[in-house]
Amino acid sequence: MATEQVRVTVFDTTLRDGEQSPGCSMNHQEKLRLAHQLDRLGIDVIEAGFPIASDGDFEAVKAISAVIRRPVIAGLARACPADIERAWEALKDAAHPRIHVFLATSDIHLKYKLRITREQCLAQARESVALAKSFCDDVEFSPEDATRTDPEFLCQVLEAVVEAGATTLNIPDTVGYSVPTEYGELIATIRRRVKGVENVAISAHCHNDLGLAVANSMAAVAAGARQVECTINGIGERAGNAALEEIVMAMRVRHDRYPYQTAIAAEHLFPASQMLSEIVGVPVQPNKAVIGRNAFAHEAGIHQDGVLKNPLTYEIMTPQSVGVPDSKLVLGKHSGRHALAIRCEQLGYQFDRRALDDIYRRFVRLADKIKHVEDHHLLELIRETHKPASSATPLFEPLATAAAAGSMGSSTQEPIKPFPIVAQPNAFGVPLPVAAEHLHDQQQEDYLWGV
Ligand code: KIV
Ligand code: ZN
Repeated sequence: MATEQVRVTVFDTTLRDGEQSPGCSMNHQEKLRLAHQLDRLGIDVIEAGFPIASDGDFEAVKAISAVIRRPVIAGLARACPADIERAWEALKDAAHPRIHVFLATSDIHLKYKLRITREQCLAQARESVALAKSFCDDVEFSPEDATRTDPEFLCQVLEAVVEAGATTLNIPDTVGYSVPTEYGELIATIRRRVKGVENVAISAHCHNDLGLAVANSMAAVAAGARQVECTINGIGERAGNAALEEIVMAMRVRHDRYPYQTAIAAEHLFPASQMLSEIVGVPVQPNKAVIGRNAFAHEAGIHQDGVLKNPLTYEIMTPQSVGVPDSKLVLGKHSGRHALAIRCEQLGYQFDRRALDDIYRRFVRLADKIKHVEDHHLLELIRETHKPASSATPLFEPLATAAAAGSMGSSTQEPIKPFPIVAQPNAFGVPLPVAAEHLHDQQQEDYLWGV
């Protein structure tokens, strides 16, 4: 029996909601670097920032709009003219701009935070969406704290903004209070009750205060939501947002239960996670689903025995499918520069020869002390040895872009020599010839460094 295939839009808010989490702020260059990785990952909508929040946010949204051309670029705005105009100013050069307007609708927020009545809220939502629509065809509306809003009033507001031109209705569980059955029912209610809803997309935006953000997002999709809002590593306000990598892999691994498709290139999930963690300096918890250090590690003897006989015994997805480097390649003091360069590439960095030499010297000293150099040691070494923004080329950022980014204030990038220059085998395992001008270099290096 053929299964119905439904496409779900992945809206990444790492650069906006994610950046709001304590200790996770990023500078202009870092945001651009991550935006390129999100593009490579196949994200459909990148929420690049909240342009009125600061000049830095405005400039980042503007720069991302100018260089990232495939996905939709969204900018957040409160439901007022100054925010919406500023958002449009930042977004107007994007190939596919989206203005994302939000206004709280729960009685708690209306009474204590906004100090407005329901009638005022309804009018403000309608007028703001109409103003955003006058600038941009693609308008998303979020009734903040939707899950604690009277459903009757919520549907009234949603109907008003659809009439005013909203194209996506995002339903935030702002405080992470909902549970899966309840959140799924809310989505179903909206689909049943809101006039015109069949012409717009419904979106899930879940926070993780009860650890249910991913489960709630999946329930929303099962109930008919066709966009999920999420972040790399699940970073975000307080306990974070729904983790992108978990949503994507749940749909992939349990496609029998979640017959939905995304455009995500899953092999870029781990590099994206590592890049974010390195940029914000916040390590990923080791047991984090999908991309944690231990997600594919097997310690117990019975498990090791099973995995060695057949990985299917204890692995429900392969490490390669999410871009986790081959764990069989153990880095120790006997490892050469080739292995080191490959592992660096797997972690998202490509170094020129001089930079790699530098890292290698330190690596050997460290390996002498601690025997096995793990990925987190290596990332630390890379951070210490070469500030990545200046002397390493993130593997997943096109060189042309790196050069463009340089013109926005970073130090100039050295041209990258391809490395390693060893004879690479072709698909049949036969080594391909190495260009003669590299051969001397190579022999010299092998002698010096024991490749
Ligand atoms: O959690 C939330 O309510 C938000 C909105 C601004 C969409 O992040
Ligand atoms: Zn949020």
